[in-house]
Amino acid sequence: MEKILVTRRIPQKFVERLEALGEVEMWDHELTPMPRDKFLDAVKDKTAALVTLSEKIDDELLKAAPNLKIVANLAVGYDNIDLDVAKYHDVEVSNTPHVLTETTAELGFSLMLAISRRIVEGEKYIKDGNWESWGPYLLAGKDIYHSKVGIFGMGEIGKAFARRLKGFNADILYHNRSQDTKAEHELGAFYTSFDTLIKKSDFVVSTAPSTPETRNIFNKEVFKKMRNDAFFINIGRGDLVVEEDLIEALEEGEIAGCALDVVRDEPIRLDHPLLKMPNVIITPHIGSASVLTRDQMIQTCVLNIEDVLNGDAPRNKVEAR
Ligand code: GLV
Repeated sequence: MEKILVTRRIPQKFVERLEALGEVEMWDHELTPMPRDKFLDAVKDKTAALVTLSEKIDDELLKAAPNLKIVANLAVGYDNIDLDVAKYHDVEVSNTPHVLTETTAELGFSLMLAISRRIVEGEKYIKDGNWESWGPYLLAGKDIYHSKVGIFGMGEIGKAFARRLKGFNADILYHNRSQDTKAEHELGAFYTSFDTLIKKSDFVVSTAPSTPETRNIFNKEVFKKMRNDAFFINIGRGDLVVEEDLIEALEEGEIAGCALDVVRDEPIRLDHPLLKMPNVIITPHIGSASVLTRDQMIQTCVLNIEDVLNGDAPRNKVEAR
């Protein structure tokens, strides 16, 4: 008998699909993660687990789950999972690529528009009762049109972001682990060193995953090299950024502002200095949060669990590099 754990509430239609495979136990909460001790206990007899980024999948967890065959992660990123340990325990891991690409690029683009044209600041300005008259430079921002946009991480989401820049006549620079000449032809993007990208760009957009090479890459030295009128946008992972250095760069005027969908510690503390800065926009890690895309991500997890419980490899298998 297959036993499936789902660590967050998902729609009934997907639960039923899983019930066709075996017995399902679901942590029936939308916004509260399953506490670690409950997770460790619930996973003991399970053969499959559908988990979120809130769950850490490590040796302790996998030791507690001797029957587990698959962890289906409800995300494209999988830095919450120790892939080497999963391999050691012979547990398959899957993610949800492709289906969230356009939705996540759209959120990134929304953030770029919002920060460059001071949309959130403008709304607050009105609600605070400050709007008395039109002013020549009232809330004057920065054009994306004809600007230089530097994309760090030219994977699917980076490319989808670049495609959206077409109507803005922007120069697109990118930096990636490897050069992608096909993308260069299709998108008119130019490969540069990381150093050139951060020095030249009006907008530095990070879509890169968290890896040992990228962690803390946006630090003091990098913010110092960026243009003083540049904006930083992060839709990848929060731990690429040394937040104290970002705060200092904003305070010192080394960059003009930032828009972040991800931060180092999520959820962000309400007394976090970034929340007090007018030239900072933060959204609660909602890059892929459209109803359709979230449905498709859950569906992808279900399909991967079906694959493994039917004796096949998961279609969206992820492995240690
Ligand atoms: C979200 O951050 C994801 O990796 O899907």
